[in-house]
Amino acid sequence: MAANYPREKQPLQGSQDSAPIPPRQRHRCAKYWALLLLVLGCWSMLSLLPEDGPDEASSPSPAAELEACAWSHLERHAPLLDVPPIPRSEFLRRQATLAAALEAAGVDAFIAEPSASTAYYANVSSSFDLSERPFLVVIDRHGQFTTLVPKFEEGRIAKLEMVYDTRTTITWGEEESPYDPLVRTAGLSKVMVDEHARYMIVAGLQKAGVEVVPMSDAVQSLRSVKTDAEIAILKGMNAFTLELVRSLQKCIQVGATQEAVVDAAQGLFTRAGVGEGYWSIVLFGHQAAYPHGGESGRTLQDGEFVLIDIGSILHGYGSDVTRTILPVGATVSDDLMGIWRTVHAAQSAAFERMNVNETCSDVDAASRAVVEKAGFGPFFTHRLGHGLGLEMHEPPYLNGANSHKLKAGEVATNEPGIYVTTEQAGLVGKKIGFGVRLEDPILVTETGGVPLTVRRAQSPWDP
Ligand SMILES: *[C@@H]1O[C@H](CO)[C@@H](O)[C@H](O)[C@H]1NC(C)=O
Ligand SMILES: *[C@@H]1O[C@H](CO)[C@@H](O)[C@H](O)[C@H]1NC(C)=O
Repeated sequence: MAANYPREKQPLQGSQDSAPIPPRQRHRCAKYWALLLLVLGCWSMLSLLPEDGPDEASSPSPAAELEACAWSHLERHAPLLDVPPIPRSEFLRRQATLAAALEAAGVDAFIAEPSASTAYYANVSSSFDLSERPFLVVIDRHGQFTTLVPKFEEGRIAKLEMVYDTRTTITWGEEESPYDPLVRTAGLSKVMVDEHARYMIVAGLQKAGVEVVPMSDAVQSLRSVKTDAEIAILKGMNAFTLELVRSLQKCIQVGATQEAVVDAAQGLFTRAGVGEGYWSIVLFGHQAAYPHGGESGRTLQDGEFVLIDIGSILHGYGSDVTRTILPVGATVSDDLMGIWRTVHAAQSAAFERMNVNETCSDVDAASRAVVEKAGFGPFFTHRLGHGLGLEMHEPPYLNGANSHKLKAGEVATNEPGIYVTTEQAGLVGKKIGFGVRLEDPILVTETGGVPLTVRRAQSPWDP
């Protein structure tokens, strides 16, 4: 999805420059000189043009135009992203909290491969490539930090900006089982293995004579309950992401292409310094009948909604915001507006229930009841939402089967939707399919839910 031109260098307006107009010459000699200069001038101008030809150089792409327009609205919101990363002291505190939880559970150590868990406890990114040779982060019940490292990878792993107080490094050579030196040196007999670790890690530990237990709810909730530093990052990033969508809404026009919106959004995140991690789902009209889309290559028609589900990453933490919008001055049928309001009401019903001790399945049911009452029950095809943090989808999950009770500090998306394909449209008295979804990540607090986007949608024109 990378744009195919350097953004900083792309002219925002058609270049008005043209070949120098030679002054009218009377002197013969001067005339020749002028002609020569003109030829040289034209030649040098031509050689500066990109190979695609003069048209592309003089008029900006629709994506660049959309991006420039949206940035004029968005730029003043960029300071929302001025939030510090997680400090070293917090990583150490997390390790101490984990150690206490292990002690309480009667487990010797917690073992993880590079994953959201190592990002959380040790600042080892989940993007560190896994290979068949295990690299493990081990935190024991006394808070001792150990890594198990393939001998020949020691240098590369030492370069990671891992956070620990003191560290023991156990290396293993190509001719031995990695688990034997770990179990021997760290003195492990019962361990808790992270939910993202591969089965080969569990099997290897068991073969080395260690009892393995799965990650407990107590340990899982250490990461799902966010700290103040995490909340600040999530709030800055999600509030900025909503402003980005709002800036696009002010600039998208009927006739826009999906690709232009996708590229413009990437450019906007990039201008704000958070382009890495960018993803988006942009759907026009009936394309939105599938929650995650699938079809591409459409031009926006009058009477169609634009569904934008979008996010990126700040300091490892994601944003995830969906709005179903209309361009300034555009409209949809009363039926479709009714659908939008039903989804909004469903989101409100769930929002009112996102309180401490509320059961996840009840929150999901509250939003579903609104959609069912409006006669669209079968078309709300997915769970209400998911946790958001270092992972784009993580506990707590708001679905009909989850008996987890919400805790203060947890964050979950509230994202009801109604999706009717063109094949199903006859069932609801329509000819063409559609999809509407609204999504805000909500922080659970003692005094109720708080949208991390800061404000929920008001209408398709005021997202
Ligand atoms: C965590 O790692 C990142 C690089 O991935 C680094 O920029 C940051 O300073 C590290 N944090 C700490 C507290 O060391
Ligand atoms: C939530 O439930 C716990 C345990 O039952 C209770 O101690 C706490 O007061 C409850 N909190 C709220 C806000 O209802």
